[in-house]
Amino acid sequence: MKVLGFESSCGETGVALVETGADGPPRLLAEALHSQVAMHAEYGGVVPEIASRRHLEAISPVIERAVADAKLSLPEVEGIAVTRGPGLVGSLLVGLSTAKALACALDIPLAGVNHIEGHIMASFLSDKKPQFPFIALVVSGGHTNVYLVNNYHQFQQLGQTRDDAAGEALDKAAKLLGLGYPGGVIIDKLSKNGNPHAFDFPRAMKDSPDFSFSGLKTSLSVMLKKRGRPFTEDELPDVVASYQEAIVDVLVQKTIRAANANTVRQLVVCGGVAANGRLRKRFARVAEEEGMELFIPPMVLCTDNAAMIAVLGEIILKNRGGDALDLNAVSRWPLVNRPS
Ligand code: KG4
Ligand code: ZN
Repeated sequence: MKVLGFESSCGETGVALVETGADGPPRLLAEALHSQVAMHAEYGGVVPEIASRRHLEAISPVIERAVADAKLSLPEVEGIAVTRGPGLVGSLLVGLSTAKALACALDIPLAGVNHIEGHIMASFLSDKKPQFPFIALVVSGGHTNVYLVNNYHQFQQLGQTRDDAAGEALDKAAKLLGLGYPGGVIIDKLSKNGNPHAFDFPRAMKDSPDFSFSGLKTSLSVMLKKRGRPFTEDELPDVVASYQEAIVDVLVQKTIRAANANTVRQLVVCGGVAANGRLRKRFARVAEEEGMELFIPPMVLCTDNAAMIAVLGEIILKNRGGDALDLNAVSRWPLVNRPS
């Protein structure tokens, strides 16, 4: 089945074509992405009104690019998948309306899918797929959740952030330090020259399955105020490496604890922050020590993309069929059990 996927929940306009056969992993035929990162950088974060307008301008050329790269014509597409939520409603509506129009014009089924679930399914695009049950850590700019995934339909949430998401904590720290946006990427790079143990940042809620990162951000802000002057260029790599380490420590510790508590040996780590070099290295090390199998999508499939939406859409279309065309966008959509 050839599925055309759409992603427009935040600052990325993505379109991808994925094909699945009777066996073997889904094949990514083509993917096109327009990122608005540079446009939002001067505001230090995504501005919803600008984002939806830019999605509207970008979506047609992005579709054309993806379809041309796949060497296909639109009538060869057999199904459509689109992010329905969670996300910015104005942005979601651009993808959703386009997807509905195409589904209607081509007379093919449409699946409105959950963005968080899409991040998890990105790991199914590799040759080596995770086996159920597995533990999934979804860690991005909007989410920090741990799930026990029993099958395609059953997601049990084991932990979540009580305040900021991990990516948000990185983005806010970079802003406080005057480093720019998106903070996660900048801190990842800068921390490579720093000592992760140079500064002592708090690790909150140690004994809970839940996360909290807002105190961490506050501790950095207090540290800056007490000093009364910005960090020097020599100090910055140590500061960001230590700050990042505090985040990585709790992400690793709580995910492993969830796996052990549920006697699960397969781990999926996904979402934008899963592109982080230190996080990937620490998870690889601990998975080996614990005898667990680790699945982290390649970096381009960790941050927002449409390939993950197309893969998930194909699963949903095959198992459950399409949605009605009056489907609406939803800003909040916890990942709960879907009917099978
Ligand atoms: O999944 P994503 O693209 O969008 C959401 O669904 O939120 O994640 C974006 C988040 C941002 O907070 C960004 O700073 C973070 O992922 N991020 C990273 C890296 N690349 C993106 N954080 C740490 N290291 C990275 N390499
Ligand atoms: Zn995302």
